Amino acid sequence: MRRTNKNAKLGLKDLNKTVSLLGWVQNIRNLGSITFIDLRDISGIIQLLVDNEVIDTKSIKFEYLIAVTGLVQEKAVPNPNLVTGMIEIKVSKLNVISTSQVLPFNLNESTSASEDTKLKYRYLDLRRKESLRPLLIRHQISRIFREFFDHHGFIEVETPILTLSTPEGARDYLVPSRGQPGSFYALPQSPQLFKQILMVAGLERYYQFARCFRDEDLRSDRQPDFTQIDLEMSFMSQQEILKLMEKVLKKVFQQIVNYEVKLPLRQLTYHDAIDTYGSDKPDTRYEMKLQDLTKIGHQTSFEPFLKHKFIKGIIINNYATTLSRKKLDELVSMAKSMKLENLYALKVVNQKLEGGIMKYFDDITATSLIIDLNLKEQDVLLIAVSNVNHLLCSVLGNLRSFFAKELNLIPPHTYDLLWVVDFPMFEAVNGTSEITPSHHPFTRPKAGHEKYLAKKPLKALSSAFDIVINGYEAGGGSLRIYEESLQAQIFDLLKLSKAEQENRFGWFLEALKYGTPPHGGMAFGLDRLTMILANTNNIRDVIAFPKNVSAVCPLTNAPKPVAAKQLEELSLVLKEKNEKN
Ligand code: AMO
Repeated sequence: MRRTNKNAKLGLKDLNKTVSLLGWVQNIRNLGSITFIDLRDISGIIQLLVDNEVIDTKSIKFEYLIAVTGLVQEKAVPNPNLVTGMIEIKVSKLNVISTSQVLPFNLNESTSASEDTKLKYRYLDLRRKESLRPLLIRHQISRIFREFFDHHGFIEVETPILTLSTPEGARDYLVPSRGQPGSFYALPQSPQLFKQILMVAGLERYYQFARCFRDEDLRSDRQPDFTQIDLEMSFMSQQEILKLMEKVLKKVFQQIVNYEVKLPLRQLTYHDAIDTYGSDKPDTRYEMKLQDLTKIGHQTSFEPFLKHKFIKGIIINNYATTLSRKKLDELVSMAKSMKLENLYALKVVNQKLEGGIMKYFDDITATSLIIDLNLKEQDVLLIAVSNVNHLLCSVLGNLRSFFAKELNLIPPHTYDLLWVVDFPMFEAVNGTSEITPSHHPFTRPKAGHEKYLAKKPLKALSSAFDIVINGYEAGGGSLRIYEESLQAQIFDLLKLSKAEQENRFGWFLEALKYGTPPHGGMAFGLDRLTMILANTNNIRDVIAFPKNVSAVCPLTNAPKPVAAKQLEELSLVLKEKNEKN
């Protein structure tokens, strides 16, 4: 039987037509003389009406795939919740194409199956509308980006999956080489160096939907294999790159969630982001900014304030009655688990500050605290101290997001997009004099900051930028180093010996010697963009076949041991399980 229509394309305009449909039995209700079947195909659901005298439906079960022919007729009781709710098909012919076993879980919207069960039977799970929805959104995002790139002269190029390690800060996935025993390919953490080489090759504008692989601890917004919308451009300033990318984001938000993004997007420096929100990916849909209390705190006689270089706080409006002793203890232990010594709470009650530490404040200091911070009745001021500003800010930033969730401060269906710029070039490696790149080692110093590289590298800012949406790092990029000498200087600073530089990056340094154009680019996290637009906070929802939190694919059970013969071919010998280290 040939299909004449898709279910959800039918409507009152088709009354009295004979149609042939294909689909899965989503629901079946036998009412004695007649049977109603909800038939589902990719377009949607339509109701079938079967006369049991004419066709025997007893053998038909949930998720059987059937082909039907019948007449489009008006429904006696219309269903306004369905696109096809005004009509039904009076079936004259019904064939079963494929039967289905009893399902391991029901496919209702409210199914109680665990995530692992749903992922194990992903092919069934994806028959559910709400599981398929994020994949359709993902497809739309990709389409909009592709059209945009095409329109703006970008060339799509694929880069190798079997390659060399690309330093993006995570562990590599390695693939042993059979031909060269003891040698390994690495799966790309990103196509970073290839895209730069394409600029050397003169392509000027490149893009790719790039599969990237990173062996790192998984989180709700991280997968071991994920997709970047990766791009690179020659002859563009940082501001020009940002302006162009804002345009495509505007299109994406307009077309997918009908949201008007106002351009130009706000640009916040890394320093201000940390100081104001305690995060380099701040969620600015709500306020609760960090307050600098260092000056006023040092006017009190409270020992912990006087002993510490930085004193900061956050104001939680209308929280005084909620903040019990027990609640404060919980907050203090949260702060301690993040390596802060303590938290101090002040409440505004009867227009006065209350709290154990108030005895260390004189009247003038107490009053100016209320006035300077514009504290209102029932407000709580949580104060923390540290000698390390970054630590202090990030703990308060974490408390800020904690309260945003607890107090429902995030307005629904709003999107907040901003650029975070002026990242430091390097970060100190904990407790050592070593430094590591904040972005990656190919990032260009911000103009004028080259002078800090030799003596004060931690002072140097870079030309790196992130796009932050609703508190997610949805993408990042930078201008690149295009001079071989500057690139080698950065490798020197990172303590890569000349031999290592030659061994790992010699080919790249060599390429930079042949008329390399100034260039820069970025990569959007397609998975994260989809999460934001599909309104989920679980990255697994937006990937067809995701890994679970143990980095296992529940559908195929990868990774798995391999046969001894395969190991032998690869010249690999596994350590005995009980052998220590
Ligand atoms: P970066 O490492 O910032 O930059 O990655 C770019 C974007 O990719 C997404 N992302 C991830 N998404 C899901 N799971 C992960 N494990 C994961 N890791 C990263 C994030 C991130 O912002 N080569 C540079 C880009 C450039 O400089 O052009 C790079 O990879 O949304």
